[in-house]
Amino acid sequence: MKKKILVTGGTGYIGSHTTVELIENGFEVVIIDNLYNSEADVIDRIQKITGIKPSLEVFDLCNSEKLDVFCRKNRDIAAVIHFAAYKAVGESVNKPLDYYRNNLLSLVNLLDAMKKNGIPNLVFSSSCTVYGQPEKLPVTENSPLQPATSPYGNTKQVGEAIIRDTTVSDKNIKAISLRYFNPIGAHPSSLIGELPRGVPENLVPYITQTAYGLREELKVFGDDYNTPDGSCVRDYLHVVDLAKAHVVAVKRLIDENNKTNYEVFNLGTGIGVSVLEAIKSFEKVTGIKVKYKIVARRAGDIEKIWADPSYANKELGWKTLSTLDESMKTAWEWEKKVRSK
Ligand code: UD1
Repeated sequence: MKKKILVTGGTGYIGSHTTVELIENGFEVVIIDNLYNSEADVIDRIQKITGIKPSLEVFDLCNSEKLDVFCRKNRDIAAVIHFAAYKAVGESVNKPLDYYRNNLLSLVNLLDAMKKNGIPNLVFSSSCTVYGQPEKLPVTENSPLQPATSPYGNTKQVGEAIIRDTTVSDKNIKAISLRYFNPIGAHPSSLIGELPRGVPENLVPYITQTAYGLREELKVFGDDYNTPDGSCVRDYLHVVDLAKAHVVAVKRLIDENNKTNYEVFNLGTGIGVSVLEAIKSFEKVTGIKVKYKIVARRAGDIEKIWADPSYANKELGWKTLSTLDESMKTAWEWEKKVRSK
């Protein structure tokens, strides 16, 4: 019997790539998604890649009744991977209540439904944003957390705390929080990838859309940071590498010999890359010049952050395999394919 995994937000960017990896590892996937920031046809694209169509239930996790009904019918779920959340840092500053309601209420509802229905395991999408601007780089899982600089970041910190407290109070629930650095790129099939609605907030979709001619020019937010070339430094990892880490996390939770109730892992490459280096990598692998200009710093941006992934490497037996150049290449292939229809 295939083990059943619930993926919330499974039609989204990271959720869809993770669904593919789960199916390819022999799991059955059921998705709940409200399609707020994604399209239902992602399910068909997943089927094209894997040969198997995951089931999709369209509703909002803030609706606890619907969630309860769903979980009652699916008590055999072995683990939940919870991606469904809002993720735009800037927007969260203007709409804090939307962010707290959506990101935290859905999590509380989910944990409640898991407890009520005997669903034991949770993987949570967290973020390196919980570290703020770290004093020491690279950041390990033991680096101190800093006060969040946005409501979005706060929902990740509070979300982790809610999960940790729940695992302390209820030994039947085990959980792993995965702190992502900056996921980029797309599946090598170019059938799934990042498709932000409207103007992209994140760097790589802005680069690919500018290269495609959808945006006039990329704005580089600041070149006066204390970094080698003055632009901000991040740790960009390929989304397929990130997706594979979720499969490992699920297997770890399901393993009955693993008695640890709550764990946290950094998921990154360990390599810091500046905004200008990221642009250069894109230009190198595509042969396309990206029109950009340097503008003022973006409010709330962190100067530099990259992961120490050694704990995840050792404990999970997971590490990133794709280079920055490979990631950029897949991001571009996806952009071209998705626009050509
Ligand atoms: C942010 C969050 C992260 C969250 C992610 C999801 C922080 C510190 N990080 O990542 O937790 O998971 O968004 O959306 O809150 N840049 C430009 N021009 C652009 C866009 C970006 O120069 O048009 C620069 C930014 O200044 C930054 C880098 O590119 O230095 C990466 O930005 P972005 O892709 O938005 O990700 P983060 O801000 O690192």
